[in-house]
Amino acid sequence: MPTAPRPLRVGLIGSGFMGKCHALAWNAVAATFGEAPRPELVGLAEIDAGLAAARAAQFGFARATADWRDLVADPRIDVVSIAAPNALHAEMAIAALAAGKHVWCEKPMATRLADAEAMAEAAAAAPQAIAALGYNYIQNPAIRLAGELIAAGRLGPVSHFRIEMDEDFMADPAAPFGLKDSAESGYGALDDFGVHPLSLVHVLLGRSIGPARRVFAHLSRPFSERPLPGGGRRPVETHDVATLLLAFDGDCAGTLCLSRAAQGRKGRIAIQIFGAAGSLAYDQERLNELQLYEARGPAAERGFRTILASPDHPPYGHFLPAPGHGLGFNDLKIIECREFMRAIAGVPARLIGFAEGIAFERLIHAAAQSHETGRWQDIA
Ligand SMILES: NC(=O)c1ccc[n+]([C@@H]2O[C@H](COP(=O)([O-])OP(=O)(O)OC[C@H]3O[C@@H](n4cnc5c(N)ncnc54)[C@H](O)[C@@H]3O)[C@@H](O)[C@H]2O)c1
Repeated sequence: MPTAPRPLRVGLIGSGFMGKCHALAWNAVAATFGEAPRPELVGLAEIDAGLAAARAAQFGFARATADWRDLVADPRIDVVSIAAPNALHAEMAIAALAAGKHVWCEKPMATRLADAEAMAEAAAAAPQAIAALGYNYIQNPAIRLAGELIAAGRLGPVSHFRIEMDEDFMADPAAPFGLKDSAESGYGALDDFGVHPLSLVHVLLGRSIGPARRVFAHLSRPFSERPLPGGGRRPVETHDVATLLLAFDGDCAGTLCLSRAAQGRKGRIAIQIFGAAGSLAYDQERLNELQLYEARGPAAERGFRTILASPDHPPYGHFLPAPGHGLGFNDLKIIECREFMRAIAGVPARLIGFAEGIAFERLIHAAAQSHETGRWQDIA
């Protein structure tokens, strides 16, 4: 008689915004999809014991620790979710892979390219482990549909695209200097945001237009300094605005406009993809809608039409039987968690692993170099 599959045993590092999303996903994935045994939530690590204990109790983890190395060393843990700040990912992910764990690490891979390369090497050296990145936006059923329409040739050959990713959490000039103003956190909008549009370009257009060959970028600071909580002011070291031009083979062109200081924009990822036979438009602030324009039929009747997410767009139906009722951000994380579990089970999955994600990091660092030099940069 075949034995029942053993539950995956999970450790979580970091319990802030994304840590909670991972925890909700680990809690919900079995109930939503009903495919694998309910994951066992073994341990949670935070920066201090009190916070770790409180969050472990809230999220349903059996034990808590103030040292993430305890989780990584724990033989009862199969999988480590990394939802700590960007600069800590490399050390945590490399240690977890070396300890034989699967890793689900938030984006971007690291703040320094050398660290991201080391993560990719660690994943390659542990082929039994799944090393996946937190690119939840690619999991949206509307984005899956967009990819299928493009692959089916409904837009004709794609010639150019534009993506604008805008939020306003850094838009207040009076807000005090924080981690995201410090060079320790990375470049700013370029890496904190830029990797998300690159993940979307990868799944939507990777097969049709291939990778970007060259990049030209400009980074800017809406505010040159910020107040310090104890008095005085400190120069801002990151750039909250980044603009990138991307050149692909075959004269295909792309634009990324990224801002963390775009007053009024809360979670915008506005995508436009243009082909010879039609175009697609999407905005993450309206994540259940896809706009499709097809250049056929009487000219007087042409126009964009809105396709509303429904059970006809997998895996929407696992959440809701009713069309138009709508998925949300956390649902995309639950889908990502399911894909991660499928990959661990050896089933083909829609995921961006360290091996693919390293290409986004190389592009981001080439963009930073372009800003420094004022010239186009080739992408390795
Ligand atoms: N996929 C997405 O859409 C998305 C969205 C937001 C953030 N992120 C990424 O998620 C990661 C976390 O960002 P966030 O917004 O949740 O930040 P956050 O500040 O809300 O949470 C980070 C948590 O990590 C904890 N932490 C810090 N150092 C730690 C350590 N040494 N050990 C254990 N815990 C530690 C902090 O105490 C905090 O609770 C970042 O890499 C970020 O880029 C991804």
